[in-house]
Amino acid sequence: MERVQINRNVEYSKIIQGFWRLNEWKMTPQDLNRHLHQLVEMGVTTMDHADIYGDYTCETLFGEALKLSPELRNQIELVSKCGIVLPTDRFEQFDGHRYDLSRQHIVASVNRSLEALQTDYLDTLLIHRPSPLMNPDEVRDALDILVKEGKIKSFGVSNFNNDQYDLLNRGIKSHKLHIAVNQLEVSPYHAASIYDGTIDHMYRDDVKITAWSPLAGGKLLDVEDEKSKRVMAIIGPLAQKYQTAPASIATAWLMKHPATIMPIMGTSRIDRINDAVKGLDISLTDQEWFDIYTAVLGHDIP
Ligand SMILES: NC(=O)c1ccc[n+]([C@@H]2O[C@H](COP(=O)([O-])OP(=O)(O)OC[C@H]3O[C@@H](n4cnc5c(N)ncnc54)[C@H](OP(=O)(O)O)[C@@H]3O)[C@@H](O)[C@H]2O)c1
Repeated sequence: MERVQINRNVEYSKIIQGFWRLNEWKMTPQDLNRHLHQLVEMGVTTMDHADIYGDYTCETLFGEALKLSPELRNQIELVSKCGIVLPTDRFEQFDGHRYDLSRQHIVASVNRSLEALQTDYLDTLLIHRPSPLMNPDEVRDALDILVKEGKIKSFGVSNFNNDQYDLLNRGIKSHKLHIAVNQLEVSPYHAASIYDGTIDHMYRDDVKITAWSPLAGGKLLDVEDEKSKRVMAIIGPLAQKYQTAPASIATAWLMKHPATIMPIMGTSRIDRINDAVKGLDISLTDQEWFDIYTAVLGHDIP
């Protein structure tokens, strides 16, 4: 599978597996270990996590599966996120819903993630959401510590708009780790970051995009609301034309954008990951791309 250079140290697979819903998959460590081997065989090597997924349990479930095949660690890239605090019984200090981008929280969160994932380093650390209280100096200080200790190989953000990105980027510019990734919600259902200029801004700075909920969490394919009906009325016939699944058309649509957009698939099923991978071989025409785009917008382009 085609790979994407994130920085000097890290490459991603163009299709990424997300683990937000891992605690719902009801897999044993052996099942998940098999799943990981199948992903790697398909070339899907990049694994997206966050400290909070599954009430802070998903990283631990993943770590238990990884432990069964330690050699897998060098064949995959582990991405995790920090900065959201959710109330939980698991950690006394997490007593409310807030964002915490302090140096202390970022460093402690990475240490917890490493322990849960049973690894020594993250290939990428992402700040999960921008915070109104974000002080770029605090983030830079946290990165300094984590880089020095060899705990992160690249750095990025998620859900940052252009101003939030600029603020943090300027604050850490002199630092060894630039912002290499912005993880955004983008799909043939949610295309705001395409038309509001966020993706163009990232493209300008060579910041790679990873797309969360590339099938709108399944809503796109459920065809239950007006928007999904409109979009699927275009995607359905294209799937027939290219003799593939609708999900392949969705990933082909994302990947036609010139700023590299890598879909993070949330499915637990290898056959559905395979549908996403098939999208890599489909070249939609410009007209087909715009037909989907205008269906998402709900009106014609000017
Ligand atoms: N940075 C952020 O703020 C943020 C926010 C949300 C998510 N994320 C990341 O993005 C990842 C993906 O999010 P997502 O789970 O919402 O992504 P998604 O790929 O849009 O949706 C996956 C869901 O759709 C269902 N689905 C139904 N039909 C499907 C089909 N034909 N093919 C594939 N899936 C189908 C899947 O169920 P089955 O398992 O039954 O196939 C699964 O529940 C997460 O795991 C997480 O890593 C990041």
